[in-house]
Order: sequence, then C-alpha cells, then structure tokens
Amino acid sequence: MSVTSPQLPELLARRRAGHALEQPFYVSPDVYEADLQTIFYREWLYAIPACQLEKTGSYVTLKVGAYQIVIVKGADGEVRAFHNACRHRGSIVCKAREGRVAKLVCPYHQWTYDLDGRLIWANNMGPEFDPGQHGLRPVALKMLAGLVYICLADDPPDFDAFAKAAEPYLAVHDLSDAKVAHSSSIIEKGNWKLVWENNRECYHCSGNHPALCRSFPLDPEVAGVSADGTFSPRLQAHFDACAAAGAPAQFLLGGDGQFRLARMPLQEKAVSYTMDGKVAVARPLGRVAKPDAGSLLMFHYPSTWNHFLPDHALTFRVTPISPTETEVTTTWLVHKDAVEGVDYDLKRLTEVWIETNDEDREIVETNQQGIFSPAYIPGPYSPDWESGVVQFVDWYADWMARGHRPEPRLAAE
Ligand code: FES
Ligand SMILES: [Fe+2]
Repeated sequence: MSVTSPQLPELLARRRAGHALEQPFYVSPDVYEADLQTIFYREWLYAIPACQLEKTGSYVTLKVGAYQIVIVKGADGEVRAFHNACRHRGSIVCKAREGRVAKLVCPYHQWTYDLDGRLIWANNMGPEFDPGQHGLRPVALKMLAGLVYICLADDPPDFDAFAKAAEPYLAVHDLSDAKVAHSSSIIEKGNWKLVWENNRECYHCSGNHPALCRSFPLDPEVAGVSADGTFSPRLQAHFDACAAAGAPAQFLLGGDGQFRLARMPLQEKAVSYTMDGKVAVARPLGRVAKPDAGSLLMFHYPSTWNHFLPDHALTFRVTPISPTETEVTTTWLVHKDAVEGVDYDLKRLTEVWIETNDEDREIVETNQQGIFSPAYIPGPYSPDWESGVVQFVDWYADWMARGHRPEPRLAAE
C-alpha cells in the first residue's frame, strides 16, 4: 500500500459483504505480509501425503513465505519437520525439492545432523562447543490419516478438533496404503486468495473446464456452502446412501468455517475424474463399497483442498510465493500395489486435473491482471453459485480483523 492508500483495518472495516475484495487485498505487499503473519505463519498447513516419504532418509523441502522447511523420515519410521536452516551460519541444509540421504549434511561447512535433527558432527568448533544446543529447530507436525500437516508457530493452535472431525471421513480411504502416482507443481501468477476464490465456486466451470465437466456436476450445491445447512432431497439421499455403505458423507462445516467435509456426487454415471467418467485405477485405494459415492471434498484453509474418490485420491496444496504468485501442488495417490500400465494408465489418471489446473491458472492470472487496473471496482458474488466464495472471503476477513483464529467457543454457548 502506498502512503496514501488505506491501511488494512480500514480496508477490512469498509469491506462490502458479498462482494469481491478491494485491490490492495490482491496486490499489496503489506496485506500479503499481514496474511502470512496472521494466517500462514500461525495455522496448521497441509504439507505432503505421508507416503511421499517412502524410506528412511526420504525428505521433502517446502518454502512457506520466508520460511524454509524440511520434512524427513527417521530411522525409527517417524516423520519429523525442521527449519531447513543450519545452526552454524544459517545456510539451507537440503537444497533439492526432495531426495534421500543417510544424514542431513549442510553444504557450507558440512555440519552433519542425524535424521532426528541432532547435530552429530561439526569440525573444529573448540572445547566449549555443545552440539546438544545446536540441533535443527523442529517444526510442529501432525499426522492426519496419512496426511502430514505442519505449523510454523512456536505455540501451535488446536489441531485435534479438525482431526477428530476429518478422521471418520478419511479412514475408509486407507491413505496409509497409498503411493504417489504423480505430483505436479505450478505457479499461478495471482494472489493466493484469488486461487482460493476460484476454487470455491463452479460458476466458471461450464465456460472453462470441458474435461472436468464430463464428471464434475454443474450444481451450485456441490461446490458451494449451504447458507442454512440444509440440502436438496437428492443430495441428502446421496449422503445417506454413502453413509449406509460405510462411507461418511454428510456435509460438515467446522472450525469457524476453516474446514469443510462432504462426499458429493459426480455427474450421473461418472465414478471418477476421467474423460469417460469410468474408473481410473482398477485396484482401488480404500474401502468405499459404493462405486458411485462420488468425491469426498475436504478443504482446510488456508492450505489445502482435496478429492477422495473410491478408486484414487487427489491432494492440493496452496502456497503463497509473493503478493501476486501462488504455488499449487497437486498429488495423485493410488494404492501402493497398483501397477502403472496394468492397474492404471498415468495419462488417463492425471489428464483431467492437469488440464483443469492449467485452465484455472489462466483464469486466476487473467483475474489478477484485471485487478491491477486502477479502474477495478469489486463486484457482487452470485448468491447461489458463489456461496463458497462468500464463505471463504468472510472467513478470511474475520480472521484478519481479529488478528488470529477465533477463540474456542465455551461448551455452554
Ligand atoms: S552454515 Fe552450515 S555448516 Fe556452516
Ligand atoms: Fe476451476
């Protein structure tokens, strides 16, 4: 924001409900920094599926805002996260996006850390030096049904309420039996909130996603958020039928709007995100006994949305890179014993969402370009088709106005 532009509290105070945000929310380095400090540096963030770390010493590196993080599997099978910064002079320790190592060795002066973060070798540091005081700094980590979440805060907020709500929905998908079939990371030249706003509605789908629309229904109830928590009889019947088949499905909005779970039907006759709507993987991941159960849609602000299908699963991670750049990482999970070329064809498995992601990237970038114009005025969201966007923007504005997540409600309230 320039010296003459309004500051964040004023921008939040004058926000028009049901409307897109003003330009500074999408372009200002000051708002971006406030977003990081208030949300991304404080909240639990989805990182990776645990199965991505296959063996002892397998690691993945992430960058969230200014933070560098490494997640590594120890010799004891534990997955741990650390700040990827050497305790000598601060160099990044693991430079690759992912890899496998016996020890974590800093490339600068070769200080060497065990996979549990302990410093085990540092040359010529003198008799006073205490290696015990110079281990890698840990990052909080939680496992949710085979999904790894991290939190950069020294004093992380509660994770258990979300985990408790999500676990019954996820259990039937057996993500601990998964393997990564494919992963793609793209950079969208748009503010992270534009990425989310685009995700939270399918008002744009018919005009932009020919491949996705072969299986994903054009129904505002599926992508949106019911204002009163009720659903059409058709949708409620689907939830009930899935639950009767052992796959929890009922729409659940929790954590003061931070997360949503619901198993939504696909287009009639479609059972997976393929061009013909038929299964993508012959050997299914999980135990969803109802082939047309559709997709368990789970979002958790600010970092992830997911699709869990009867035959495979997709996780998406949203990472802000700059005020006007966002990384979106998509990971396709299949059963660990499914064989490529036998049980699934990689192109068939991935083509719908690779195409859809690219279409969404272009939409978000074009939206961002328009918002850069001084003539931009925030317009109204469609009450029916963009209820999910309204919910996201309200969530964001509420948290930014408080400066932190809402206090937990007292039981008596
Ligand atoms: S900065 Fe890592 S060993 Fe010197
Ligand atoms: Fe889209």
